[in-house]
Amino acid sequence: MGIAVALLTVFFAAAIASTPVESFTCSGTSGTTCNGLVGYVPSNTTTLSNITTLFGIQNDLRSLLGANNFPLNTSPNQSVSPQQTIRITFPCTCNNGTGYPVNPPVYTVVSGDTLSHIAEVVFSGLVTYQQIQVFNNVKDASMIVPGQELKIPLPCSCDEVGGERVVHYGYAVESGNTVQGIAQEFNTTEATLLSLNGLNSPKDLLADVPLDVPLKACTTMVGNNSLDYPLLVANDTYIFTAGNCVMCSCNAANNWTLQCEPSQAQSTIWTTCPSLQCQGEQSLYIGNTTTSSCNRTTCAYAGYTNQTIFTTLTSLSTCPVSGSPPPSNNAPPAASDGNINAPKFLLKGWSWSFILMFIHLVLLYLHLVQ
Ligand SMILES: *[C@@H]1O[C@H](CO)[C@@H](O)[C@H](O)[C@H]1NC(C)=O
Ligand SMILES: *[C@@H]1O[C@H](CO)[C@@H](O)[C@H](O)[C@H]1NC(C)=O
Ligand SMILES: *[C@@H]1O[C@H](CO)[C@@H](O)[C@H](O)[C@H]1NC(C)=O
Ligand SMILES: *[C@@H]1O[C@H](CO)[C@@H](O)[C@H](O)[C@H]1NC(C)=O
Ligand SMILES: *[C@@H]1O[C@H](CO)[C@@H](O)[C@H](O)[C@H]1NC(C)=O
Ligand SMILES: *[C@@H]1O[C@H](CO)[C@@H](O)[C@H](O)[C@H]1NC(C)=O
Ligand SMILES: *[C@@H]1O[C@H](CO)[C@@H](O)[C@H](O)[C@H]1NC(C)=O
Ligand SMILES: *[C@@H]1O[C@H](CO)[C@@H](O)[C@H](O)[C@H]1NC(C)=O
Ligand SMILES: *[C@@H]1O[C@H](CO)[C@@H](O)[C@H](O)[C@H]1NC(C)=O
Ligand SMILES: *[C@@H]1O[C@H](CO)[C@@H](O)[C@H](O)[C@H]1NC(C)=O
Ligand SMILES: *[C@@H]1O[C@H](CO)[C@@H](O)[C@H](O)[C@H]1NC(C)=O
Repeated sequence: MGIAVALLTVFFAAAIASTPVESFTCSGTSGTTCNGLVGYVPSNTTTLSNITTLFGIQNDLRSLLGANNFPLNTSPNQSVSPQQTIRITFPCTCNNGTGYPVNPPVYTVVSGDTLSHIAEVVFSGLVTYQQIQVFNNVKDASMIVPGQELKIPLPCSCDEVGGERVVHYGYAVESGNTVQGIAQEFNTTEATLLSLNGLNSPKDLLADVPLDVPLKACTTMVGNNSLDYPLLVANDTYIFTAGNCVMCSCNAANNWTLQCEPSQAQSTIWTTCPSLQCQGEQSLYIGNTTTSSCNRTTCAYAGYTNQTIFTTLTSLSTCPVSGSPPPSNNAPPAASDGNINAPKFLLKGWSWSFILMFIHLVLLYLHLVQ
């Protein structure tokens, strides 16, 4: 009897574990948004253009190119071979504890389709058929008809991991994958992957159930009053932001600092882009750096509202510490509401700690000679 109950419990636990209905945990308050990222693995030869159609981003080839770090002049007719991973980025929002695409792709059922074929083959295991079923309120999984439209709840999250803002990457698990192998490939730990995905043991990894893999994001000067906050960009990807006026790329080799510059592209929200010059230093545009004697000043992108693009000047000084005063940093621009957060400058902190240390040393010395 006890054994039977135990077996039943195990059976049900296994059944529950193997049929996740909810996707990635996204515990931010409803309405929190960020960039989602998934790795799509086509089963047949296809094209970039067909992939944008499948994911409902046909008007945004650029985001696909950026997520894959493909050159901007890549043709939409570019062929993609099966098993090649193509990263797809999309706006993600938290809703009742789970992350969902702001605009989920819509798939139209064709004759011969089953929910599991759509989940596991067409969308390469980035969703489970149960997730599609629940999300679309399909009562009977076997009752889908050609022409029926299904919204695909791609997995995504905006949660911090280990106190850091990360890009949550939806990894399509294939049979043969191991948690350890995935952790190694994405430079994270087995323990992080297990806890983030609610898995008790590496053996609980299932093919065709997407795995939430946290990717380190570049640091930015974008504050929480910016419309694109938190601007999360993973290594080896670039994105367009501020209504397409600004292009930013993340490269681990750049000390994980987001590099932004004017995009020269047609804005999606303005007829012409607002000023991209650094207020306080009109000669500098976003992305420009000047070096004068022992000063390196960079004009960095600091976010946007629907009226203004914010910039901030950061100075890195290699001046000898004694003598010259600490470099004054220009506050971020006169945003109309004026509540952009002035980023803290490492250098300022440095000089101050030096002065404090100096004072302490002097006091100590005076104390000793007494
Ligand atoms: C993919 O290729 C297989 C045969 O290799 C074919 O049966 C299937 O219809 C193709 N799928 C699509 C979506 O074109
Ligand atoms: C891309 O989609 C078009 C239209 O659906 C289709 O005719 C074409 O065969 C697809 N190309 C590839 C390589 O799958
Ligand atoms: C892509 O292919 C279509 C037809 O296959 C063609 O009309 C179009 O000009 C091509 N686009 C580019 C950018 O090569
Ligand atoms: C939110 O999720 C919980 C379970 O996670 C569920 O019981 C509840 O009905 C959901 N609320 C809404 C409004 O969907
Ligand atoms: C991988 O992560 C560890 C710790 O998070 C870090 O020390 C190491 O530099 C990372 N490796 C690469 C190649 O980024
Ligand atoms: C925005 O950031 C500021 C300072 O960084 C912080 O004090 C404030 O609580 C943040 N607001 C929200 C809504 O997170
Ligand atoms: C960043 O991406 C580049 C290009 O793919 C890769 O060579 C490098 O190892 C990556 N670095 C980290 C820390 O992930
Ligand atoms: C890299 O960035 C960290 C923090 O963002 C900073 O402390 C460090 O000085 C930077 N290193 C270089 C070489 O710029
Ligand atoms: C400043 O940035 C603009 C736009 O990216 C560029 O055209 C210009 O050459 C840069 N100027 C300097 C001095 O780097
Ligand atoms: C800017 O956004 C606010 C609220 O988000 C809206 O009320 C206002 O109309 C927008 N202004 C413009 C010029 O789009
Ligand atoms: C370094 O830059 C700061 C602010 O941009 C400026 O106030 C200071 O005079 C500069 N120092 C030198 C030596 O150029």
